[in-house]
Amino acid sequence: MNHCGKRLRRCGTKPLPQAAAGKAGPLTNRDNLIAGALLADVGKPLEYDKDPSGKVIQGKFGQQLRHPFSGVALAHKNGIPGEILHIIATHSHEGDNVERSIESIIFHHADFVDFDIAKVLGKRAAKK
Ligand SMILES: [Fe+2]
Repeated sequence: MNHCGKRLRRCGTKPLPQAAAGKAGPLTNRDNLIAGALLADVGKPLEYDKDPSGKVIQGKFGQQLRHPFSGVALAHKNGIPGEILHIIATHSHEGDNVERSIESIIFHHADFVDFDIAKVLGKRAAKK
């Protein structure tokens, strides 16, 4: 069996972090990944306001600091460890020029899969 086939077979029989890490042990810290995913958007309430009609809009503060920045500030103020602050800071486009941790790479892609699907579903709903 060629290298790719062996790798695919190995990935299919082990949990992803173990399969990706081989014998070196897991590359990811699952607790940090989950905590980062849960807290990534913690700054959104500071970014958005409602206009007089009730429509959600980006507020003045949000125009100055998007939620990855305000989220890091909130999380840091509450003693969240740096590894998780990194995920909050880099989960969106603000992290595109940063070397993301493995946990941040995983969450960044998962977040954009969700975002892209929501965008398509929104367009479809608008056509009806
Ligand atoms: Fe976000």
